[in-house]
Amino acid sequence: MNILITGCSTGLGFGLASHYLEEGHKVFGTSRNPNDALMKNDSFSYLSQDLSDFEHLKKSIPEFLSSTKSLDLVILNAGILNEVKDLKVTTIEEIRRVMDVNVWANKVLIDILFESLENVDQLVAISSGAAVSGSRGWNAYALSKATLNMLIDLYSKENATCHFCALAPGLIETGMQDYINDLPDSYQAKFPLVNKLKQARGTEKMPKPKDAAKIVSKSITRALKHPSGSFLDVREM
Ligand SMILES: NC(=O)c1ccc[n+]([C@@H]2O[C@H](COP(=O)([O-])OP(=O)(O)OC[C@H]3O[C@@H](n4cnc5c(N)ncnc54)[C@H](OP(=O)(O)O)[C@@H]3O)[C@@H](O)[C@H]2O)c1
Repeated sequence: MNILITGCSTGLGFGLASHYLEEGHKVFGTSRNPNDALMKNDSFSYLSQDLSDFEHLKKSIPEFLSSTKSLDLVILNAGILNEVKDLKVTTIEEIRRVMDVNVWANKVLIDILFESLENVDQLVAISSGAAVSGSRGWNAYALSKATLNMLIDLYSKENATCHFCALAPGLIETGMQDYINDLPDSYQAKFPLVNKLKQARGTEKMPKPKDAAKIVSKSITRALKHPSGSFLDVREM
């Protein structure tokens, strides 16, 4: 398969890129920083790109993918978590920054992919349980993942030949969770999810990226049995 993965330098994106390369697939990966281990693999092509630079993105992606006419799988994985705090103290500027990476970059990417390629078979946007849980403190991140789910649903109606889904990958021990784990205990009363995530760390509820990638890749295959445009959660599949 030809697979495009965004946010391949660390965390789940790195786990997924390594997993699909080990299975013998060709992986096109993008992020701002390269990952040395991936760069050593002949089946890996890399583009350094800040996804929030939309104008550059529009030019760089068609060039990056010029060796192929179609992609079997696109995984829009790159995402950022901003500071855990109440929405009322989250500025519009901060919400915009999160929305740019977690949502609007994916809109730009989807538009370019369908314009420049002959075919995309499956597109998976990595979402989060935060899209629907309404957990206090998850401010811009929760808004961005809820919007991402609807973005994917809407695109599924416009592109009948591609299977779309927004997929919550479950908890994964990555940089995002490092940030939450380092939050002081004083956060736990106001933001109950912080405590839940701290307790999950080091348990099977929060696998490391390579193990999570195995679970997510199985769910990506299973997603094809669900209606295109669905929001799915690996913990329920
Ligand atoms: N970890 C969890 O428990 C968890 C739970 C639910 C959902 N998720 C979702 O899973 C996905 C992966 O998260 P993760 O936990 O693996 O996080 P991570 O380790 O922080 O990885 C994020 C990836 O996104 C890339 N990225 C961030 N900003 C970017 C930008 N402006 N332009 C290009 N690339 C950018 C990063 O690469 P560079 O810094 O090199 O650019 C990195 O490769 C995210 O969508 C996240 O919301 C994670």
